[in-house]
Amino acid sequence: MTTSATTPFSTLIRTASHEQHTEAETSTFMGDLLGGRLGVDAYARYTEQLWFVYRALEEGAAALAADPVAGPFIQPELMRTAELERDLAHLRGADWRRTATPLPATAAYAERVADCARTWPAGYVAHHYTRYLGDLSGGQIIRDKAERTWGFARKGDGVRFYVFDGIGNPAAFKRSYRERLDGLGVDDLEKQRVVDECKRAFGLNTAVFRELGEEFPLSA
Ligand code: HEM
Repeated sequence: MTTSATTPFSTLIRTASHEQHTEAETSTFMGDLLGGRLGVDAYARYTEQLWFVYRALEEGAAALAADPVAGPFIQPELMRTAELERDLAHLRGADWRRTATPLPATAAYAERVADCARTWPAGYVAHHYTRYLGDLSGGQIIRDKAERTWGFARKGDGVRFYVFDGIGNPAAFKRSYRERLDGLGVDDLEKQRVVDECKRAFGLNTAVFRELGEEFPLSA
């Protein structure tokens, strides 16, 4: 896909990652998890992996708040680290930090996010988009399945990660987010690099699913 001056950037990035989105959505681990075929321990392990990724995303966010490219995307109502910590305390117990470990793929993902946050604000936007817009969309499907499969209270402990209390109208929020993407203050070449980074972000997510799938094989 080539960058077109007439295609809005939000369309470009969505279209470019569409195939990988399907791949992530239909990964064995996600399929088994959402199909109710895995125990709550697999869900907890997945949530733990998310914590490492969001910590990198959100530790990096503070320094980027005033950045002309990434700054407009940094919003407190998106922040997920505190919610993940509450979910993990529920899932694993108060001392969850003692046993939390990143899978190799998770460590690589978090490292890439931290690198972008430190050195490449537009690349950070690619990671920001891949996670938060996904959480606001498909995340809601995951929450619903998790509540029904493992009996969490609706929007309660265990699934708080998927609940954006500060966002009253997710559809409107996503619209304004796409407008910000369309207004990304970089040239076409850099936009193409952001699209490539988004594809890389999807690949990093798929790698985490692959390793989770190896840890939780259905045949076990
Ligand atoms: C089973 C897992 C998943 C389901 C059921 C799911 C489902 C969805 C749905 C229904 C949308 C809304 C599309 C729209 O608004 O037109 C969406 C959007 C999105 N998803 Fe997923 N998704 C899943 C996994 C993922 C993963 C793993 C990622 C990446 C980490 C991701 C990233 C995104 C992004 C970035 C969008 C926004 C696309 C855009 O409008 O620009 N999703 N997803």
